Amino acid sequence: MSEDILREGLRIRSVFKDERTLDLSYIPPRLPHRESEYRILARVFRSIYDEPGSMTSKATIVGSTGVGKTVLARRFCDDIEKICRDKGIKLYSIYVNAQEFRGSPHLILTEVSSKIALNLPSRGFSPEEILSFILKALEERDCYLLLALDEVEALISSRGLKLLTSLSRLYEMQMGSKQRVHTILIVRDPKALHSLSTPILETLQGYVLDLHNYTKNEIYDIVKYRAELAFKGDAISDEALKLVTDICASSGNIRWAVELLLKAGRYADSIGSKIVLPIHIRAVQQSVIYSMIPIRDNLRNLSDHELLLLLAVARISQFSPEEAYFPTGRVEEAYRVVCEEYGMEPKRHTQFWSYMKTLSMAGLLEVKPSTVGYRGRTTLIGLPIQPELVVRSIEEELSRRSFRDS
Ligand SMILES: Nc1ncnc2c1ncn2[C@@H]1O[C@H](COP(=O)(O)OP(=O)(O)OP(=O)(O)O)[C@@H](O)[C@H]1O
Ligand SMILES: [Mg+2]
Repeated sequence: MSEDILREGLRIRSVFKDERTLDLSYIPPRLPHRESEYRILARVFRSIYDEPGSMTSKATIVGSTGVGKTVLARRFCDDIEKICRDKGIKLYSIYVNAQEFRGSPHLILTEVSSKIALNLPSRGFSPEEILSFILKALEERDCYLLLALDEVEALISSRGLKLLTSLSRLYEMQMGSKQRVHTILIVRDPKALHSLSTPILETLQGYVLDLHNYTKNEIYDIVKYRAELAFKGDAISDEALKLVTDICASSGNIRWAVELLLKAGRYADSIGSKIVLPIHIRAVQQSVIYSMIPIRDNLRNLSDHELLLLLAVARISQFSPEEAYFPTGRVEEAYRVVCEEYGMEPKRHTQFWSYMKTLSMAGLLEVKPSTVGYRGRTTLIGLPIQPELVVRSIEEELSRRSFRDS
């Protein structure tokens, strides 16, 4: 019987031509309305292609959530690596999200080393040592490195700063020899970089590329383009595209549009519709966006530390999408990192527990004892809400509070 159901399921027509293009990690071939910013990057990094080794090139991309910072950097990195390869220049373009590596310089640099196939001995080296191994490997292989470091906010803590300091020293180390390392830093709020000392900031920042929020017409063009990549011709109505545009226009966050298109397409498939219509967008809108509103109201009643703890769980959930629950130790560590980022002294274990209880009673966290699989007994913590919404709302709430206090 299950085979019959499967056959029937496979026979059903889908509205999608290529659903994967709506995956958040997908990098589209074109980026409408980011052409001029792309051109600027091409100018800033021109020397890698024209006269490799002649100078270091650096840029910092800033802009609010969902304006395309990550996708612009990734598109550019992939393209420049390819055109350099075609010209016989060996360039490693490496993208690393600092948040994903919990702001740890060691984990980040180990990731870079492994991407350039450099096997480091497991002994603990300092960031500077690892960077000098990387530099040596680049010299020996006559290669260049373009490092795109995303969510640099995660490095604004005492241990994370070590990486930025070492990177800036690296530029000094390269003086007099070929300049092999180039960087793109990506950060939402440029104020996050103000805690760097002036010499480090001046060395690392380079050209600051500020991505403006998209206008409504621009959003429509992007929505239409993303729909063309994902859906079969005529499988989504223009009214549906306009509705997605309207919904996203208030925030300028294109991630909402991509999620709405994906969920609405799946919904249309599930009810056997051959075309995605406004009603399908409406049907999924709540799960993408409106679930944020009750969260926001809830957040206002929480203390700063409760917010920081919830933010910690949301960040872990975001970067470990395959796991539903996390052991307390890991949450406590992430909470300390978040406290450091916001310049707050982390609270002790007993206090931490009472925050956890409050959050669990408010329905914002799920707390349960561990079953088999974890060493010893620990409590497991899960986030019952979409992590991205939580991260965004908490960050907004925390910045609202800091404005109110200042
Ligand atoms: N100009 C564009 N053309 C096509 N797709 C775009 C464009 N701008 C953004 N997107 C898409 O919108 C989504 C959000 O973009 P991205 O992740 O780059 O935002 P971001 O600025 O890095 O946000 P955050 O600050 O939250 O990290 C991605 O799926 C991306 O592919
Ligand atoms: Mg990003």
